[in-house]
Amino acid sequence: MKILVLNGSPRVNGNTASMISVFREEAEKHGHQVIEYNVCRMNVKGCMACEYCHEIKPGECVHKDDMSKIYAELKDTEMLLLASPIYYHGISGQLKCVIDRFYSALYPKAPETLKKVGMFLSSGDPDMYVGAKFSYDGDFLGYLGLEDGGIVTNHDENAEAKIRKMAASL
Ligand SMILES: Cc1cc2nc3c(=O)[nH]c(=O)nc-3n(C[C@H](O)[C@H](O)[C@H](O)COP(=O)(O)O)c2cc1C
Repeated sequence: MKILVLNGSPRVNGNTASMISVFREEAEKHGHQVIEYNVCRMNVKGCMACEYCHEIKPGECVHKDDMSKIYAELKDTEMLLLASPIYYHGISGQLKCVIDRFYSALYPKAPETLKKVGMFLSSGDPDMYVGAKFSYDGDFLGYLGLEDGGIVTNHDENAEAKIRKMAASL
């Protein structure tokens, strides 16, 4: 399975990065292809709501920036893994910007190949996940109808074991 990981943490050795590294190790052991982008190291502009992607050139964003790399991956990705620290009760702004830009590629429908989604979250305090989970449930499971690969947070008991189980069961 081709898995696209979008890392929304700027901290190279942070909690989100550690969770991704466990996931990658286990998923690759099971023969999956894991492609990761640290979106904090990319130049991705905010969605302009200009509707160019729906009304002028369907599927094509008016911005020409690093998002083109993610659009190319999304064409045949089978699972999307959204990974982020919690900033002010939600995912990081860098990852939110990328998700808003999904508008040209995943709205109104995701590519046929994209079937599954998962999420890793990391915060300072526990129980800080309501905002991020709301968007995951509403946008990715509800609206896009993707299969739930699960959410793991850095406050979960046995988070590493949970991540390994998630990766092994794909
Ligand atoms: C701008 C900013 C906002 C933050 N907001 C919250 C917050 O609302 N709640 C919380 O528990 N932690 C908050 N934190 C702490 C981070 O979520 C926490 O340190 C997290 O584990 C960092 O993950 P990382 O190591 O993967 O980058 C914030 C940190 C930053 C830099």
